[in-house]
Amino acid sequence: MKKKSIISIIICICIVASALFTSCGGNNGEASSKATESATEASAADGIDYMALVNKTHALPDNWEKNLETVKITNSVKTEVEVEKKAYDAYLKLKSELEGENIFVDLDSARRSVADQQRIMDEFTRDHGADYAAKTVAQPGFSEHHTGLALDLYLIIDGKDVTENEDMEQYPEIWEKIHEKLPKYGFILRYLKDKEHITGYGYEPWHIRYLDNTEIAQEITDKGITLEGYLNTASEDPVTIDLGKSELYSEEELNDAVVQIKCKFAFWPECKLNSIRYAGDEAATEKNLKWINKINNTKKYTKVAEFLMDFHTPENMSDNTLESDFDYKDYQWWLAYTEKDGWEIASQGY
Ligand code: DAL
Ligand code: ZN
Repeated sequence: MKKKSIISIIICICIVASALFTSCGGNNGEASSKATESATEASAADGIDYMALVNKTHALPDNWEKNLETVKITNSVKTEVEVEKKAYDAYLKLKSELEGENIFVDLDSARRSVADQQRIMDEFTRDHGADYAAKTVAQPGFSEHHTGLALDLYLIIDGKDVTENEDMEQYPEIWEKIHEKLPKYGFILRYLKDKEHITGYGYEPWHIRYLDNTEIAQEITDKGITLEGYLNTASEDPVTIDLGKSELYSEEELNDAVVQIKCKFAFWPECKLNSIRYAGDEAATEKNLKWINKINNTKKYTKVAEFLMDFHTPENMSDNTLESDFDYKDYQWWLAYTEKDGWEIASQGY
């Protein structure tokens, strides 16, 4: 494959894209050794590894349940929630401090079985499409919720349960106050804004993760990094996002599209993302919209947008489709929009 962008070879898009997924996701280097450590510790006789990394590329460690102790509670909307024991004790302390400041929360969901996760994934895919589901719900077997250490909170405002994501998002000041208190009880906020290329998920103010270590939780929070960044499985170097100027799309629309791209990029944990930029309204033509609708004929997309990405491949890549330790420039992402499912990745590659 040539080093420079060959924009005209649209036909290669899918081939290169799939090769890239395989290449960047296949050889995890330091990431693997950390994950292996976690898996080993999880199967140790003396309890679970509270620092275990479970994300898009790290499955729940084997034998996790063997050492897991949980409690089951019923929340204010009469749903049973199962939580890892120490995480629950820490949550009760957090909840109590919050109540002292007139902030009321409850547990929406904590430990989930693989079957539960599959049901959620199926529902989201059916209702919102595969890409929306992928940035919102983990694949069964790869959800931090399997550990029992991930807790989804909901708010109780003026005595009313606020459980829907869109409704909870209307209270950023309350979430900010909650987030400030997390490290004191050994929790971190897991899915941060602007870190979607590392975590693989959109911002979730309600999803907190117990680490059983207040110092580490404080360090991660103070540095504004992810668990992946702390464990050195992903680069926390800044990423340049350039939305340019558009007469067609609002900043919010373009940002939504960028989040979708970043969530997909998280499948390539070894590659380092440098920048994403909007290619401009010139690419958002009727002709390109027609082309996208032709190659993805299951939906009727109404908008199209192109983005260009610069990224760096890791050393010692086993796949020869992409060069090792190489700066790739102007990798293309074509996003297409429907009212129902929002932006989706319709095509990618050179
Ligand atoms: N919502 C988070 C990513 C999960 O499904 O585990
Ligand atoms: Zn969650």
